[in-house]
Amino acid sequence: MESPSAPAHRRCVPWQGLLLAASLLTFWSLPTTAQLTIESVPPNAAEGKNVLLCVHNLPANLLAYSWYKGEMVDSDLRIVSYATDTRIITLGPASNNREAICPNGSLQFQKVTLQDTGFYTLQAINKDTESIKVTGQLRVYPSLLTFWSLCTTAQLTIESVPPNAAEGKDVLLRVHNLPGDVMVCFWYKGERVNSDLHIVSYIAQTQVINRGPASSNRETIYPNGSLLFQKVTLQDTGYYTLEAIDKNFQKKQVTGRLRVYRE
Ligand SMILES: *[C@@H]1O[C@H](CO)[C@@H](O)[C@H](O)[C@H]1NC(C)=O
Ligand SMILES: *[C@@H]1O[C@H](CO)[C@@H](O)[C@H](O)[C@H]1NC(C)=O
Repeated sequence: MESPSAPAHRRCVPWQGLLLAASLLTFWSLPTTAQLTIESVPPNAAEGKNVLLCVHNLPANLLAYSWYKGEMVDSDLRIVSYATDTRIITLGPASNNREAICPNGSLQFQKVTLQDTGFYTLQAINKDTESIKVTGQLRVYPSLLTFWSLCTTAQLTIESVPPNAAEGKDVLLRVHNLPGDVMVCFWYKGERVNSDLHIVSYIAQTQVINRGPASSNRETIYPNGSLLFQKVTLQDTGYYTLEAIDKNFQKKQVTGRLRVYRE
C-alpha cells in the first residue's frame, strides 16, 4: 500500500514533460539487425476497414511512446501516447478517437477514412530518456460506395455512337456518368420530360422494362441507362432525353441527339 502522502501521479509527470521536449532528446542507435520498422496490415485498406500499424523490433526498457500524424514529431499532431510503467494512455490533439494504441506500440485504426491516408511517426523514449523514431505509411482507397458518389459529381452526358448513322443501321445513345444509386431511368423523345413521348424505362431493382407511347419496339434500354436503336429510320432523327431518379428521389436529366442520313 502506498502512503496517502506519496503523490500517486508522481511518475506520470516526468514522461509527459519529456514528450514535450522529445525532439530535443538525443537519439540512441539500435543494432542494425533489429531494425525498427512499421508495417501496415493490410498494406492497402478499403475505406471503412480496420488497419494496424504494426511496430517491429521495438526496444525493451521503454518509458513511453507516442504516435504522430505526419513524418515528424510535432506536438500539435500527436495522436496518442502511452506510458509503459503506469499504462496511462493520453490522447493528443490529432486523435479522432478511432485510433487505439496497443501495449506493444502498434497503432490500431478503426474504420479508416480517405483522410487517414498518409504518414505516421512513432517516437519511443527509453529509461535513459533517449528517443528513437520511425515513420510508416497508411494507404486507404475508396470503397465502391465512394467511387459511385465521386461519379455522380461527374457530368451526366449522352454520346451518340456513331455520331451520324445511315438509315437502317444501329445507334447507341451511350450514357456517361450515370449515378450509381439510380433507381429508375426514363427515356423520352424530344428535349423535355413528357409522358406522352415516353419511349421506355428501366427499374434497377426489379430489372423491369416498361414501354411508353413513343416506343417503336426497336429501342433497347440497358441497365447502364444507354439506349440502343435498331434499324434507325429518318424519323428517328432528333433529340432524346434521359431522366434518372436516384434512391433519394433526386432527378437528373440530360438530352442527346440522334442523326440519321439517307445513303
Ligand atoms: C501488437 O499487438 C497487436 C494487438 O494485440 C497485434 O495484433 C500485433 O500483431 C502485435 N504486433 C507485434 C509486432 O507483435
Ligand atoms: C452500356 O451497356 C451497353 C450494352 O452492354 C454497352 O454497349 C455500352 O458501352 C455501355 N455504356 C457505357 C457507358 O458503359
